[in-house]
Amino acid sequence: MTLRIEIKDLAKHFGAIKAVDGVSFSVNKGEVLGFLGPNGAGKSTTMKMITGFLTPTRGTVSVCGHDVLTDPIAVKASLGYLPEGAPAYADMTPHSFLKFIADIRGLSGAEKTRAVDSAAERAQIKNVMFQPIETLSKGYKRRVGLAQAILHNPPVLILDEPTDGLDPNQKHEVRNLINDMAEDKAIIISTHILEEVHALCTRNVVIANGKVQFNGTPHELEAMSRYHNAVCVAVDNADADKFTAFLNDLEFVGEVELLAAERGFRVYPTSGQQITAELSQTIRANGWNIDSLYAENGRLDEVFRTITTNSTQGGI
Ligand SMILES: Nc1ncnc2c1ncn2[C@@H]1O[C@H](COP(=O)(O)OP(=O)(O)O)[C@@H](O)[C@H]1O
Ligand SMILES: [Mg+2]
Repeated sequence: MTLRIEIKDLAKHFGAIKAVDGVSFSVNKGEVLGFLGPNGAGKSTTMKMITGFLTPTRGTVSVCGHDVLTDPIAVKASLGYLPEGAPAYADMTPHSFLKFIADIRGLSGAEKTRAVDSAAERAQIKNVMFQPIETLSKGYKRRVGLAQAILHNPPVLILDEPTDGLDPNQKHEVRNLINDMAEDKAIIISTHILEEVHALCTRNVVIANGKVQFNGTPHELEAMSRYHNAVCVAVDNADADKFTAFLNDLEFVGEVELLAAERGFRVYPTSGQQITAELSQTIRANGWNIDSLYAENGRLDEVFRTITTNSTQGGI
């Protein structure tokens, strides 16, 4: 594992507002870290400090071994950054904008042409390269921002809500692009969109009120749901009271819930364990005929509310 980003006890206070308040985590090569949290949680502020656009009130940031305070130029050279809203110069074309960014990145000659071409290709903006940016749709503007971020093929990418405002097809394309780049980079994406936890992320950090509330894999996040490994089961001609009593008697069953008409029962394990095989065998062995039976993975929206609502106004 190669450590690419390490932040320790990072804080940013704006007067009395503690936008970020003691955040620590690290990101290795090959990881796509999903940075999640409600509006105002401190995601963008954290990203601005990692990229050197805001000076921390407290704490340290290291990118590819370079400290953002003592070595800001090396940090900026090591990373690509898609800021919130993806600002770009509206009256430039993507072509002139990317060439301008390439100049800033110190590229010239054939290398510059190749970098612009390759970034445009990967971000799928080749068909709008000579159209003023202000005339482009939101999806294209976002992808121009992405092309800018990946132009110099940096080892670290910091992408602030890269799929915000995109339609489902555009989201799909941007996720594919990020997945394609994931292997040899360390990537942080902030997002509100819970489906991206699985579509994109290898790990998640959830923040609320400027503090880390969770740091773990998507699977671990899902496993915090009360629905994790609960089994929904429907049987033929069941007397609801009798079947409920039968389920309640099983030692691996914690709780039984009667679902709305015809949909059967939801059976919770005693302590989050998998019970599908055992449950279906026991039901059959006792002479019931199973109509349907499936386990739930867990519900991310419920987990998010639980993790983030004690401390915040907004919700995801
Ligand atoms: N320049 C600023 N001055 C004062 N408050 C700010 C500034 N930037 C952000 N904040 C506040 O800091 C908190 C975190 O904001 P932000 O990092 O943008 O959250 P997120 O990106 O998670 O939505 C919010 O309460 C926001 O209003
Ligand atoms: Mg933000």
